Amino acid sequence: MKIMLTGIQSTGTPHLGNILGVIIPSINIANNNSKFSSFIFVADLHSLTQIKNVKEIKENTYKIVAAWLSFGLNTENSLLYRQSDVSEVTELAWYFNCFFPYKRLTLSHSFKKGIKNHIKMNVGLFTYPILMAADILLYNAETVPVGKDQLQHIEIARRIASCFNKKIGKKLFILPNPFLQTEIVSSIPGIDGQKMSKSKKNCINIFSSDKILKKQIMSIHTDNKSLKEKKDPDKDFIMSLYRLVASIDEVDEMRKKYIKGGYGYFEAKIALYECIIKKFSKEREKFSFFIKNKPFLDRILFLGAKKAKNIAFERLNDIRKALNFNLS
Ligand code: TRP
Repeated sequence: MKIMLTGIQSTGTPHLGNILGVIIPSINIANNNSKFSSFIFVADLHSLTQIKNVKEIKENTYKIVAAWLSFGLNTENSLLYRQSDVSEVTELAWYFNCFFPYKRLTLSHSFKKGIKNHIKMNVGLFTYPILMAADILLYNAETVPVGKDQLQHIEIARRIASCFNKKIGKKLFILPNPFLQTEIVSSIPGIDGQKMSKSKKNCINIFSSDKILKKQIMSIHTDNKSLKEKKDPDKDFIMSLYRLVASIDEVDEMRKKYIKGGYGYFEAKIALYECIIKKFSKEREKFSFFIKNKPFLDRILFLGAKKAKNIAFERLNDIRKALNFNLS
């Protein structure tokens, strides 16, 4: 059986980009594709590189779990767990740390971006890609649904896998492949047109209240064309987002209105807002149900961790043996 694995950091509520790019496609595999065994986790150790308030990380963890469940992840035939509950992953990351060339890691986008933005770099942020490689290689995952920004991290995991395989002289690690959403070729834009990302504070959060969601959508950046003027549907962020959530016919209709003129950005934003509310009404309702039911979420995490830990324990033993690290 092939393994599909993906993780989301517990840095906030999953936004539209996470949902369309990772959550929905992963659930399609986890629930419907019997060729795969699916591992889905909350990367709380990764979020510790940014958030130091552990309570906040815990709250965010619940939000991530509630999001997966409200989109219908079937936890009977997949594993949903918290990264820190399976501490084997940190031991594996340490082995990788000790073999991976320091210089190579300084070339990673996340490191360069951190330096450029003058973030106070901590060592965890620097070795972020190594922990991510351990997440993947610990379970020998072949298919890893991720956003485009994570491709370099998968590349690092592949490199580590092949280096170790060569060193040991056997195929201990499977080389993982990223699973990118083909129809969402370019990154999903946030309200400012840049890639939607929590750190850029430009997210559309479909699980927020009607009022906040509306406010987020109303603040999508546009040019300053007046109501009457004709507009370019291919150079506008409202349209880019509408394309991701509306039907082909609805998109076509909006395109025509843009080209014709007499249709304002305000109306377009309202149409986008209503479309999102309609499309995700069931999920929004379920989310608020789950988020109020923390003991249930704890139970799901507990069961997921138990299963994942058993697998990780066995596998780490095999890896230790292969590395001659079974010292006891
Ligand atoms: N770095 C990923 C992100 O920010 C989260 C993540 C951590 C992950 N470990 C992973 C994703 C392993 C896929 C596989 O989106």
